[in-house]
Amino acid sequence: MKSMKLAEKRHSTREFKTYPLTNEDRRILDEIWIDRPSLSKESSVDFIYIENGLTLAPKLDGLAGYFGNMIVAPQYYAVVSDANDLSYKIAGYTGEWFILNAIRHDFGFCWLEIKEPASAKIALNIKTPKTLVALIAIGYPKKEFQQSTIYAASRPGNLSTLTELGYPNLDIFSTQAPISMRKSIVEIAHINTFDSSPSLSDLEHYGIHEALFYMRLAPSYENRQPWHFLIRGSEVDLIMTENHHASQSIKSLDAGIAMFYFEVGMRESGFNGTWDFTNLDGEYQLPDKFKTVGRYHY
Ligand SMILES: Cc1cc2nc3c(=O)[nH]c(=O)nc-3n(C[C@H](O)[C@H](O)[C@H](O)COP(=O)(O)O)c2cc1C
Repeated sequence: MKSMKLAEKRHSTREFKTYPLTNEDRRILDEIWIDRPSLSKESSVDFIYIENGLTLAPKLDGLAGYFGNMIVAPQYYAVVSDANDLSYKIAGYTGEWFILNAIRHDFGFCWLEIKEPASAKIALNIKTPKTLVALIAIGYPKKEFQQSTIYAASRPGNLSTLTELGYPNLDIFSTQAPISMRKSIVEIAHINTFDSSPSLSDLEHYGIHEALFYMRLAPSYENRQPWHFLIRGSEVDLIMTENHHASQSIKSLDAGIAMFYFEVGMRESGFNGTWDFTNLDGEYQLPDKFKTVGRYHY
């Protein structure tokens, strides 16, 4: 299955079976991790496997999860990185790369915010000098979800209600999983200038409508989907809405995750390219509360 089809299958799991992963599944996950992309020599990101999750989860109450509410899982990955913006973006990109690959094997995952990194590191007995930027809960999902489609979860009037608005020929994989609401692609795309509002046929003309369609399925903190894509010739800039309520590491994790999904969509639409993560300022003005966080060259 193509990676973007897997994105349709992906959703956050918040209830896990209590038994641990089998040794075989651990081996599969270790092998996936070994093949992770190498994105920068200046930054390093690690995953630390935490196996006694059921015992540790209560100790993390107040320190991790929305409003300090932990998601209880038999295992977690602690995502640790250097304490800078580039490293946080790479942590988001790499973490979601890992999840999308592991989803082929039917594990359940949920990113978890860290509210108190220093205390959470102590609670988890993590010794590395790196910063704890997130946890990823992992295990076997508890519930088998019933039918729900990508369309059903869309807002009224969204372009993803395909029949309503005559969306182009996308080969949609209908998933059994619940899918959180997503914005439509015309809400997040701009051509040449940030104040432009392209139509769907404008985006089709550039051939990137499918990449955007799937990119929307990326997870984001509180499902805010703070992404905008400014198409400028052979470059596409990722511009994020600044969420003052979230920490810098969360904003950059969201950015890295979005960059990964967009790249997969572009590659599967036939546009190979690479992201610049840094040195992005100065080419145009943006309104307050928006920031350019990545530049894709293709
Ligand atoms: C950086 C990040 C942090 C997140 N933190 C939490 C969290 O602490 N608790 C939680 O229940 N979900 C968390 N999530 C999951 C999002 O709420 C979820 O991805 C989003 O609502 C979209 O839903 P979906 O993943 O099912 O498509 C987080 C996601 C991201 C990307």
